[in-house]
Amino acid sequence: MTAAKGLFLTFEGVEGSGKSTQMRLVAGRLRGLGHTVVETVEPGGTRIGKQIRSILLEAAHQELSATAELLLFFASRAQAVDEIIAPALAAGHIVISDRFTDSTLVYQGAARGLGRDVVIELDRISCQGIAPKLTLCLDLEIEAGLARARSRNRQAGDTETRLDDESLAFHRKVRQAYHDLAQREPERVKLVDAGAGIEEVAAEIGSLVEPLLAPCEN
Ligand code: TYD
Repeated sequence: MTAAKGLFLTFEGVEGSGKSTQMRLVAGRLRGLGHTVVETVEPGGTRIGKQIRSILLEAAHQELSATAELLLFFASRAQAVDEIIAPALAAGHIVISDRFTDSTLVYQGAARGLGRDVVIELDRISCQGIAPKLTLCLDLEIEAGLARARSRNRQAGDTETRLDDESLAFHRKVRQAYHDLAQREPERVKLVDAGAGIEEVAAEIGSLVEPLLAPCEN
């Protein structure tokens, strides 16, 4: 149930799949068509969310428990829903989020083994019934994506790498869980081959988004 009149889109995918680049491209394209587009990112997105992000992702925070991790991802999300997503949708805008509850389903629910039910229940508590209309899941071989992500982290001197640093087996479970999700909800969750060129991927994403667009107000 989406209690709002705007359009909510999310980007999902394994590490290094190029989802942030594609999100910027589609946002620019939609703005070019005259839509108001609000972009947000998880964890983060808000001032409070950025602080939660650093607790979650800082590589030094090895002792963070799986339950605390789960709850912090939802704390960041609840703040983003209240502060950014719900108001923008109520105003009729397009909202695009770089990751949302599907990330928690696959990383914490599946790869960490906490299960689907607890994630769905926390979503119910945190998200005001707001759910994405379309989820673009960028799919890539784990090895290629991790190599990309890790070299980017090194170059940027990024220390928010606690999740990137998880084992290959963990990231394989993440990818498998995205595939399972796409099979479970084929209408909403679309797997996009991120191994293709940037323009090709952007064109595929465009063709999935365009049918959902309402005529814009201006
Ligand atoms: P980030 O550096 O933003 O990576 P990416 O560019 O791949 O999105 O880090 C976010 C990390 O947090 C990423 O490894 C996925 C993970 N994550 C979860 O485990 N659960 C969640 O609910 C969310 C939103 C992200």
